[in-house]
Amino acid sequence: MYNQDKIVIAIDGYSSCGKSTLARELAKELHYVFIDSGAMYRGITLFAIQNNHIHNNDLDRGAIIRNLNKAELSFKLNSESKKPEIFLNGVNVESIIRTPKVAAYVSRVATIKEVREKLVREQRKMGTNGGIVMDGRDIGSVVFPKAELKLFVTADISERVKRRFSELKENGIETNEEEVKANLLERDRIDSTRIESPLIQVDDAVVIDNTKLTKNEQLQLAISLVERKLGTLA
Ligand code: DC
Repeated sequence: MYNQDKIVIAIDGYSSCGKSTLARELAKELHYVFIDSGAMYRGITLFAIQNNHIHNNDLDRGAIIRNLNKAELSFKLNSESKKPEIFLNGVNVESIIRTPKVAAYVSRVATIKEVREKLVREQRKMGTNGGIVMDGRDIGSVVFPKAELKLFVTADISERVKRRFSELKENGIETNEEEVKANLLERDRIDSTRIESPLIQVDDAVVIDNTKLTKNEQLQLAISLVERKLGTLA
């Protein structure tokens, strides 16, 4: 079905909007590489926590920047689940980067210019040959401004809280809906007001509001957008 050159698909949006699920399923459907760029910011945050660069709610930005070259991130496909998992210095950290402790600091770590420069460089390398679906906050605006297809995913906050809460519960993480909502709203605020590549909806992005869509309806909608785009490139 997809014989044309492999394109770059950029998916941006707020936290817990279902971006990564859409990006992963779309990549699977197209036989493209899927990269969850948020996992990379979470990986650096974990690195900062493990190296005591975060104490008492305070980030030691200088230490994080100085040690950045010691944090090596990579992705490997889990042969059972067929999902890519992230490794920090050779250790699989896919689960631990999803814990509330990492979530509490990641938006602040993501405001550090040097962190963004390192990760954007690595992300661009992964997209050199096309055939990639990457999700995040600055993919269509900064990482791949020339991406052939840009999607901006949104959903109502109440729906996002519900989804995030059940995801955490499934992973055995104890929390409550108020805490989840506060964390999501705080991350939205930091992500969209930071100086370094804030989350924005670029003019050439197609908006998908998935509040009332099932995962499959959302996927089918995205596939139709890809097909339309490939048709215009053929
Ligand atoms: O998508 P996520 O919730 O896993 O992302 C975690 C944090 O990383 C989020 O608060 C903002 C930041 N992030 C970013 O600044 N730029 C990206 N491309 C991806 C994530």
